[in-house]
Amino acid sequence: MKAQELVELAKAAREKAYAPYSSFKVGAALLGESGQVYLGCNIENASFGATNCAERTAIFKGISEGESSFTALAVVADTEDVCMPCGICRQVLTEFINDQTEIYLANLKGKIVKTTISQLMPNGFTKTELFSNRR
Ligand code: THU
Repeated sequence: MKAQELVELAKAAREKAYAPYSSFKVGAALLGESGQVYLGCNIENASFGATNCAERTAIFKGISEGESSFTALAVVADTEDVCMPCGICRQVLTEFINDQTEIYLANLKGKIVKTTISQLMPNGFTKTELFSNRR
C-alpha cells in the first residue's frame, strides 16, 4: 500500500473523531503485516485524562484483533505543519513497532513527512530496561 493511500484512510478515520472539547480531530491508519488496516480517531472524555488519541486507538484495535506486526502508520490532523504524536502515543508505539515500520505524519494540506519510531522516541523505555535488573 502506498503512503498516500494510508494517509487518505487516516483522513477518513479523522472524520470519526469524537473531539467536542478540543475540536482537534486526529486520524490514524495502521497497516498490519496481514494487510489489514486498523483505523483510529481521538476519543475525548469530559474527564480529560480519559481521552484516547487516534494513534493509540489504532494500535489497540490492531493488537486486540490479534495483529502483532505493523508495517506502516499514517497520522493526520488539520495542522499548519504535520501532526506530531504525543508523548504517551510515542511510548505506546515504542512497545509495538520498530524502525521497519514506516511512519507518515501528515496534514490536510497534503504535507507528508516520513519518520521512524527511533526518531520520534530516541532511547525509549522498553522491556530491555524493565528486565535489566532481574537476576
Ligand atoms: N491527539 C491525538 O489524537 N493524537 C496526537 O498525537 C496528539 C493529540 C488528540 C488528543 C485530544 O483529543 C486532542 O488531540 C487535543 O489534544
